[in-house]
Amino acid sequence: MRIGMLTVASVMLVAGCAQGPAVSTAPVALAQAAPQSEDARIADLLARMSLERKVAQLIQPQINSFTAADMERYRFGSYLNGGNGGPYGDEFAPASQWLKLADEMWEASTEPLPNGEPAIPAIWGTDAVHGHTNVIGATIFPHNVGLGATRDAGLVRRIGAATALEMRATGIEWDFSPTIAVARDRRWGRSYESYSQDPDIVAPLGAALIEGLQGKVGTPEHLSGDRVIATAKHFFADGGTTQGVDQGDVSGDIAELKAIHAKPYPAAIAAGVESIMASFNSVNGVKMHGNRDLLTGVLRDEFGFKGMVVGDWNAHGQIPGCKVDDCTQSLLAGLDMYMVPDDWRALHANLMRDVQNGTIPMARLDEAVARVLRMKLRLGLLEPTAVKPSLRPNGGNFALLGAAQHRAVAREAVAKSQVLLKNDGVLPLAAGAKILVTGRGADSVAQASGGWTLTWQGGLELTNEKYFPGATSIWTGLKQAAEAAGGSATLSVDGSYAAKPDVAVVVFGEEPYAEFEGDRKNAVFTDEEGLNLLRKFKAAGVRTVAVFLSGRPLWMNREINAADAFVAAWLPGSEGAGVADVLYGKRPATGRLSFSWPAHCDGKPVNGPEGALFNLGYGLSLGERSTVGKLDETCAYLNAGPAADWFVDGKLAPGTMITGDGAPLPGLRGQAGGIAARGVDRKRQEDAREITFAPGATLSFAHRQSGSGAFRISYFLPDQPQAPVKLTLGKNNVDITRQLALSAGKGWREMIITDACAPGLGQSLAITSSGPLKLQIAAVSRQAMPAGADCSF
Ligand code: BGC
Ligand code: BGC
Repeated sequence: MRIGMLTVASVMLVAGCAQGPAVSTAPVALAQAAPQSEDARIADLLARMSLERKVAQLIQPQINSFTAADMERYRFGSYLNGGNGGPYGDEFAPASQWLKLADEMWEASTEPLPNGEPAIPAIWGTDAVHGHTNVIGATIFPHNVGLGATRDAGLVRRIGAATALEMRATGIEWDFSPTIAVARDRRWGRSYESYSQDPDIVAPLGAALIEGLQGKVGTPEHLSGDRVIATAKHFFADGGTTQGVDQGDVSGDIAELKAIHAKPYPAAIAAGVESIMASFNSVNGVKMHGNRDLLTGVLRDEFGFKGMVVGDWNAHGQIPGCKVDDCTQSLLAGLDMYMVPDDWRALHANLMRDVQNGTIPMARLDEAVARVLRMKLRLGLLEPTAVKPSLRPNGGNFALLGAAQHRAVAREAVAKSQVLLKNDGVLPLAAGAKILVTGRGADSVAQASGGWTLTWQGGLELTNEKYFPGATSIWTGLKQAAEAAGGSATLSVDGSYAAKPDVAVVVFGEEPYAEFEGDRKNAVFTDEEGLNLLRKFKAAGVRTVAVFLSGRPLWMNREINAADAFVAAWLPGSEGAGVADVLYGKRPATGRLSFSWPAHCDGKPVNGPEGALFNLGYGLSLGERSTVGKLDETCAYLNAGPAADWFVDGKLAPGTMITGDGAPLPGLRGQAGGIAARGVDRKRQEDAREITFAPGATLSFAHRQSGSGAFRISYFLPDQPQAPVKLTLGKNNVDITRQLALSAGKGWREMIITDACAPGLGQSLAITSSGPLKLQIAAVSRQAMPAGADCSF
């Protein structure tokens, strides 16, 4: 009866909306006379939704794979911009274009529907993981690895609030942040997204970011127009994979794993986090996206999470038996929304099929849809008064992007995150000193910002002037501070100089990377730019300060020996002046390690005093002098032997023989046995070969000269293997099906086969697939690796 009346009322509202231009941007989702509970409002909506549009609420495509017309036709619950996606195909689009797209999608998703069906606005999700950094001009805050060193929850809360405002200016309402991973292995490429190796440091900082983004529960600010939805990610144990391999497996006693990796989640839930993202990794062999025990048993039943669980980028496709466009298992395991960048159309159809044939119980579908609706309801999107993004309080206020007060917060965060590891007294820099600032990182905001900055991977090609308007590089900050103190500063990226300086500040470090692209085999930093500069100045009798930009602690014994002072600066972002604030003593050096710093280069996990050069909590004050002493500079991993090429850039190297099922396949061209090969482009035209295996076919490589050393294969596997795949090396057969399943669809990767998994290695390499398989190969080589080096994929 009551529902019936509401339906009539909303039909009337639909009709009214369709005519009146003043309200044409308002959603017509709800109409009610008296205040109703969330549950009642959601039940009313569900009762009026068609099956097709319920399923659509669970679908989140990426902005470059659908149009406004698709949105109007399907009514997706949400959409995202991937790290490499921007509005209208331009990842560097100005803020106005982001807002324009947000408006368009609002309008398309709220076009009135017939028969009183509610039109539910779609919500836009983005990775504002260190500020709203997909958009040019936004404030770029330090990555979490730096914020962990501040231990300052109040500061992190202010960062969240500033990020939310910058997002709102562009019309985006949902942030895939914070990452509350507890990174336990620094070989993991996402270590910098983690606040700490210690869950007790991660938990309060994650909760603080959530409160900043969403507002504090119970205050008027909570989920107001100044705030956005936060996402705690990635549930769970993303920071605990074996050897730090991104998206890999986490194994061990579940209670012990939870005590470390799940510990920040109750704090996030208590802070009111509205969404949680499921993780790519598996736990004891079971992929999280299909892991009912953990996704439902632990997260819902044990932790009491009531919000919405969103998937990660096609991660459901990694469940055995699933494809990216067909994976009911995830929904049944407890996922509420699929992040399905491109294959949304077929996924929608396949989910519909499984609801219709009863594989998906209606109650489970309704539960998931209700969670999506509740999140939108709480953010005010379903109110009759809701308007399109540009008409909201902060919509289009582009002055918020990189606003002075936000930059001030970022600068404070940079200063508070600097960790001083060594100082023989050169710091603080003397007021009148003549300093030379050197190293590629000195004047590169891109390098100081790392991954997830304008593009997915970030990159040194992003120049300051064009891509980072309003930012201050570390060099600029140092120059201002030097001059203000009555001294002088010169920039010389390559370290050349005419007049001998008093001090050289060498800014160097890791180049930007994101996700698995940042996975490493050990803790060695092979780029010797900084090391050479430090040694050169030391030899010339110039005192040196090393400023190390990195997403993680690495083995720095050589650099620390060569420097008079060594500062871990992490990935500070757009407000490089925060570095000078500490080096010149304008602010105290209060940063303390939130990760142990390794004494050895092997990269084995160091999460306590054992194996640490500096333990968690270490960090000098400016007045303290350190006596680190001379550190051991030996490292076996620095000495990989020269490579012998068998196949380079899609072409045969002299002496290599290739066969398909035993028949010659010269140049890996044409067909032999069950193997067919054709040219494909990796970076340039035809610099790789695509090999199609018929079931049971074998592709073999051999070389005229007997060789030795590990095999390195650069490959790309577009799709999951359908049946077992094995490598044969000499007498060894290695089943690589699982490893291939993990790397499928992830772009170009390198497989390194050492005698750790194939004792003796042998003289030839063969790949046999028992099912149909497509595999692209760009290069095969052999190279001696340090003793004990693991196989990797
Ligand atoms: C990452 C997530 C991110 C998502 C959307 C995934 O590859 O793992 O952290 O939120 O992409 O860009
Ligand atoms: C997207 C990222 C995503 C990644 C996952 C990239 O192409 O831009 O957002 O996280 O793929 O593999």
